[in-house]
Amino acid sequence: MREFILKASKAFTKMFRLNDLPGAGRMDLVCRCVTNALWLSHALRRDIIFHAALEGPDRPPKILSFDGEKLVGVSLDERNIASNICIALEKGYNLRSNEEIELPSGIKIAKKSFEQLVKEKSKTTQLFYLHPKGKDIRKVEFTQNVCFILGDHLGLPSATEKLLKRFNAQKISLGKIEYLASNCVAICNYELDRILELS
Ligand SMILES: C[S@@+](CC[C@H](N)C(=O)[O-])C[C@H]1O[C@@H](n2cnc3c(N)ncnc32)[C@H](O)[C@@H]1O
Repeated sequence: MREFILKASKAFTKMFRLNDLPGAGRMDLVCRCVTNALWLSHALRRDIIFHAALEGPDRPPKILSFDGEKLVGVSLDERNIASNICIALEKGYNLRSNEEIELPSGIKIAKKSFEQLVKEKSKTTQLFYLHPKGKDIRKVEFTQNVCFILGDHLGLPSATEKLLKRFNAQKISLGKIEYLASNCVAICNYELDRILELS
């Protein structure tokens, strides 16, 4: 299994206007990451789960999970993904700590923090966080279950890096150039696809 966790530090946890995704705490960035994580040219990647840890106003924290195996009726365009997120945020608005709901679209929303999710994943999955100063992704040995963690437009703060190190996450790099978060998701998929193709 391949997973991604995006730490979306400002993304709204309440309903938002579809005409202003950037104003909803960079929901546009979240949506683009979802597309790059889950869609191929003519198919969904069924073996990928993308999680967005939403930490913005006004009911944080929330984890949105898109499981390629379960998605139904969600299309790859930003507006469609955003409207599905909006529905999930409405349904999950009043969730209590550790409660979660799975919607008919297959999207899951949980009242859970980034830290809780990372802790859970650390028990079963090889964790990596993306940083230009990390080890070259092409020199890393990947196991079957991997999870890539990345920051939004504000990056991963040093306190988060400390937390990730506590859970044995390795810092890995896609090169010295700083890319958009959504590009990083696409590059990780590409690099792992190449490894699978060659093996
Ligand atoms: C747009 S960047 C964040 C930029 C932000 N200004 C900062 O200081 O971190 C979003 C995320 O993409 C990832 N990222 C961007 N370029 C990368 C690279 N060359 N190697 C690894 N990760 C990268 C990091 O996880 C970063 O937090």
